[in-house]
Formats: sequence, C-alpha cells, structure tokens
Amino acid sequence: MSIPADLVPVDLVLAGPRPLRGTLRVPGDKGISHRALLFAAMADGESRVTGLAGGDDVRRTRLALTALGAELSVAGGTGAVTVAGRGVESFTEPGDVVDCGNSGTSIRLLTGLLSGRPFLTVLTGDASLVTRPMRRVVEPLRAMGAHIDGRADGSLAPLAVRGGGLTGTAHTLAVASAQVKTALVLAGLQADGTTTVAEPAPSRDHTERMLGALGAPITRLDERAVQVTRGAPESFTLHVPGDPSSAAFWAVAAAITPRSDVTIEGVDLNPTRIAFVDVLARMGATVGIEHTGDELGEPVGSLHVRHGALRATTIEGSEIPWLIDEIPVLAVAAAFAEGVTEIRDAAELRVKESDRIATVAGMLAAMGVGVETGADGFAVRGGRPTPARFESHGDHRIAMSAAVAANALDGESTVVDWRSTATSYPEFGNDLDRLTGGSDGRNDA
Ligand code: S3P
Repeated sequence: MSIPADLVPVDLVLAGPRPLRGTLRVPGDKGISHRALLFAAMADGESRVTGLAGGDDVRRTRLALTALGAELSVAGGTGAVTVAGRGVESFTEPGDVVDCGNSGTSIRLLTGLLSGRPFLTVLTGDASLVTRPMRRVVEPLRAMGAHIDGRADGSLAPLAVRGGGLTGTAHTLAVASAQVKTALVLAGLQADGTTTVAEPAPSRDHTERMLGALGAPITRLDERAVQVTRGAPESFTLHVPGDPSSAAFWAVAAAITPRSDVTIEGVDLNPTRIAFVDVLARMGATVGIEHTGDELGEPVGSLHVRHGALRATTIEGSEIPWLIDEIPVLAVAAAFAEGVTEIRDAAELRVKESDRIATVAGMLAAMGVGVETGADGFAVRGGRPTPARFESHGDHRIAMSAAVAANALDGESTVVDWRSTATSYPEFGNDLDRLTGGSDGRNDA
C-alpha cells in the first residue's frame, strides 16, 4: 500500500524507549524492483511482477520506461505490474526530459540501457542526483561507442544519451559498483562482441542472478568479473522479495532496544546484501536466518533479531560494498555499543543520496555521541546517546536511521523532514507504530 504523501508528517516526533515486538514484511527490494521492470521491458512477451517496491525511486524507473514507449500496467497501489515486453528495439525517443528524481539506480541503469538505442534521451534528477558522479558510467559507455554528454563534460546530470552501434569492451572499474556494472551489462547485451566488467571487490549481484535465471547470455568469470554478449532476457513472473536494506532498520532497532524481538519475513537473503546481519551478530545481537525459498536465483527467507548488549566492531575492506546502504543504521548500533566502532574504506558514502560520512556524523553528534570523520570513514565512540533533534538532509536512510535511534532513546526526539522516507519506504512510520504497539513501551510488563 502506498501512503498518500499528504498523510506523511513533515517531521516525525517520537518518545522512547519503545520495545519492538512482532513479525512484519518490508517493501519489495528496490534494486530487484528496478531490474525487474527494465528486464521485463527488454524481454519479448508478457511479464508479471508482484511485490514491487512502492517508493518513489522505482516509480521513476517505471515512468522512464513508459516514456520510452514500454507498455506497463499497474494494479493501483498493490505492487503488481504487468509488462507487455516487446524488446529494446521497440523503445522510442521520449518526448521530454526523463526525470529520475532521487534515484541513482534509475539514472545509471537507464544510461547503460539507452546507450544501445539510436535516439536521444535526456536524463536528469533532483538537487541531490545532479551532484552525484556520472563519469564512472559515462566514460566506459563512451568507450563502447555511445555518445553521451552532460554537465562538466559528462561528469554530472543532466545527461544527454544518443546510443547505438556499440562494440563489446573489457572494463576494469576503479570502484566496486553494481550500478555501473549493470549499466555496462545492459549496454553489452546490445553490443557486437563480448563485454567484460571486472571490479576491485565484488558488488551486489542481482543482475547476474536475475539475467542468468532469465536465459540471457551472461557468465560469471569469477566473483569479481562478469561477461556478456548480445541477447535479451526471457519474459517472467516474479514476486519481489523484501528489501534487506529496509529490514536492516528493524534489525538494528531490535538489537539496540531492550525487550525487542522482531521477525522479518520474505526478505531477500542474497549474501551480497545481508552482510549487516554478520556485523550485528559480532556486535552481540541475537540473530537468526531461515532460508524458505528462491525467486529468480535470489534466496528468500526470514530474519529474526533480538536485543543484546552490543560491543564495538570494525567494518572495512571487501565487507563495505555488501553493506554500503546499511552503514547509516549500523552507525546507530555503534552509538549504543560499548567501545569504539570504526568504519573504513567507505569513501563511496560521500557520493550517496547525501554525503553520508557528514550526515551520519551529524546524526551521531546530535545525540551526544563522539564521532571522528576521515576521508573514507568514521569512528564512533559508543555510550549513552541522548534524545535529539535530527536532520534528515533529504536522505531517506538518514531519516529512518534517526527514527531507529529516536525509538530507543529515553525521551522525545524529532526527525526533521521525514517525508524523504517516500524514496524507499513510505510505510516506515506505520510499521514502527505497529511493532511498538503505537505507544510508549516503558510501561510494558
Ligand atoms: C545499487 C547499488 C549500490 C547501492 C544502491 C543500489 C543497485 O550502489 O548503494 O543503493 O541497485 O545496484 P553502487 O552500485 O553505486 O555501489
């Protein structure tokens, strides 16, 4: 169910601590939802997708595909979409600029897809997206033969893409990025010859799993490299599993709030997405994982998390790409843990929906927690955080991380600009009320 924007409060005011208890399902995985729409439109035949993520980001990919002439029909508010796929050759030049909103996945994946199409598309986004780095995707696509221009010589959106006539190319990425890898795979499926993409560390692998399950000509060379030749996915039916990045908010909320016990069902358990579970376990939370099934090569199941006395940890190296989106909420866990938690090798945080090294540090400082920032990470001195007035900086994951902290703090806190949660999890406030019984939990037996 999507919540009408005018019913979501501008600021969230919460009085904690409130234990979280019960079972829930989180919205469909955002990354799988974007890919499902794109792959369905690229296929020949009808695809049916249920459980699609309801936030604004995935809506942007859907509207972009509609602007390209794809036929998608949405069953109002249920997360069910039917796509009458007619292959990439059926795409037509959009009549206007395509606005990707806040969604880095939309703009980067579409840039790759459109690099193979012989017409002009102009892609842009909101005030955050037009500051985020695009050279990482533009340069390798230019090397394949796409004509792409943009502000600062193609470093920043708006991007103007005129595609077609691609040649398969071997790419070595400077930064592990599933968005860049996927953009190059989508171009490679439309290119002559073979395209390979090698990364410095493995990034999330939804594209490999899903395209592999749909019979597209994609091969993993090893855990850091993928190869693709000309071809297309087959049409499919898919129920999108729950988003582990959304589940992570409840996992941390349960871990830091005494007397909490939460089960999240139907979650994507792809190992490249649930590294945060290992981190919480080594910090001292009680966590359990149960694998119950599979969807297009993605393992699905439930996560069970209970409160524990947390201790500090270090998060660094190849673990970072597998939990990059969960670092803001893991920083909240660190604030409630004994000792100094260090996050290193995470310079990518600086170019997410906000500069998440700066905005996480601001969130921690607001609740009186000691934090030191560096170029590629930060150190958190856990202790006794106090109620605060948090700024979301228009970043959905900062807003929800702050709410997780606020719920555990003893007293009243405010999250300013709560509406940014519409990007990925518009129902977050309702789910929080449900798990906490909607009231001050201090009087619970
Ligand atoms: C995503 C990949 C990650 C992640 C983003 C979604 C994806 O970004 O942070 O939220 O769907 O491929 P990078 O690939 O840029 O690291």
